[in-house]
Amino acid sequence: MAWRNVHPAWEEMGPGGAQSVFLRGDAAQTAPALAEHWQGRVQTLYLDPPFMSGGRYSFSQRVGAAGWQGDMAARIRRATYADRWSEGSVGYLAMLRAILTGALPLLREDGSLFVHVDWRASAHVRLLLDELLGSGRFVNEIIWAYQSGGRSKEHFARKHDSIFYYAKGKRPAFYPEAVGVPRGPQRRNHLRRGEDENGRVYFAITVGGKEYRYYEDERVAPSDVWTDIPILQQRDPQRTGYDTQKPLALMERLILATTRPGDAVCDLFSGSGTTAEAAARLGRIALAGDQDGDALHLYRRRLGLLGASFRLGGLPAWEWDAHGRVRIGCQRQGDAWSFALEEVALDAPEIPAPPPSLLPDTLHPVDAWSAGFLEGDVYRALAFAARTAKEPYLPRRLTASLPEGARPAVAFTDVLGRTFYWAAFPD
Ligand SMILES: C[S@@+](CC[C@H](N)C(=O)[O-])C[C@H]1O[C@@H](n2cnc3c(N)ncnc32)[C@H](O)[C@@H]1O
Repeated sequence: MAWRNVHPAWEEMGPGGAQSVFLRGDAAQTAPALAEHWQGRVQTLYLDPPFMSGGRYSFSQRVGAAGWQGDMAARIRRATYADRWSEGSVGYLAMLRAILTGALPLLREDGSLFVHVDWRASAHVRLLLDELLGSGRFVNEIIWAYQSGGRSKEHFARKHDSIFYYAKGKRPAFYPEAVGVPRGPQRRNHLRRGEDENGRVYFAITVGGKEYRYYEDERVAPSDVWTDIPILQQRDPQRTGYDTQKPLALMERLILATTRPGDAVCDLFSGSGTTAEAAARLGRIALAGDQDGDALHLYRRRLGLLGASFRLGGLPAWEWDAHGRVRIGCQRQGDAWSFALEEVALDAPEIPAPPPSLLPDTLHPVDAWSAGFLEGDVYRALAFAARTAKEPYLPRRLTASLPEGARPAVAFTDVLGRTFYWAAFPD
């Protein structure tokens, strides 16, 4: 058998029946592409677009076991997106208008839209949403307040984002009981504090001879000001290295409040894949898109490690570098196939070498790999491994049960963000 570098149009992962999908590309195109199947079927659409910040953002890729063990020198930083607009707010709003126009038809009649921005774009975006959906469809401006970084001496520190919540139709699905938060200990005006026979603390008021009790530990729906979800700290284990990554807890609250298990959640500015991971963890369908190749791989990584099923489209076709060295093998063992990725070597000076103190690692330039088979223009991955902080070394063997007559195939993603697909052909 000889292994040849192939270029499938689609990658599928997991046991099958994948509904979750990631499309790489400009959201102005991915929204209408998703609509071919999902028009009027998405329950919640969350958009975390650029904020008009003027910044340039990047992804910090951990390299090899050292990178995953926390060695800051074992990293490669590369650009992801620039939040710069040639005509200022005019260009920014033209981008967002085009994307929203393509994306709104995805929503169900009882669906919800969340658009996440900050002080720079919020006034513009609120007016744009009023225009596109109607001001009557405004539900909330969620203030996500956090503590981070320094304090300005010239003005009050800017420590919140705005998440605009609009309904597609008149009656959006909303499940406040799914996102209850403890009422908390704050003393309330005119209420007296008490403790019942079980030691539970409450605040009470008597009106017309009747006592109303509000228990401190009772769960109530959150208000539109959220102060209980911290932004990700530098060392947070959730951190993927993707700038502007949002916490899972934020996405979980939005998803739980507006969807049921089995519903579809969509994020067209997927970034590190937070919405998709939260959706998959909660048993929702995770539809996503992003123009960035690292965003595609992070979706693959985060959902692959959960064992979820999904499809990836818009795959870049990378040509294997003639200077590289790769050794792949596979063997049938009864019903299963055993795949081996023995070695991947790249002649790329930008990849930091492993420190000599570490165990030898013939897969040093590889971040993740999978094994499965090639069917037409679809690569189906049935087994997947990625480096993590807990398991910084990659297994060199994966097993998978292939359908009779299937063409064995393997894919790996290197630390330069390229995924190479290989299929076995007769010699
Ligand atoms: C603020 S980040 C999203 C972060 C994400 N919510 C997370 O938790 O990681 C914005 C993302 O939008 C993507 N993006 C910017 N313009 C885009 C466009 N026109 N089409 C698709 N993606 C775009 C960027 O590549 C970036 O990943």
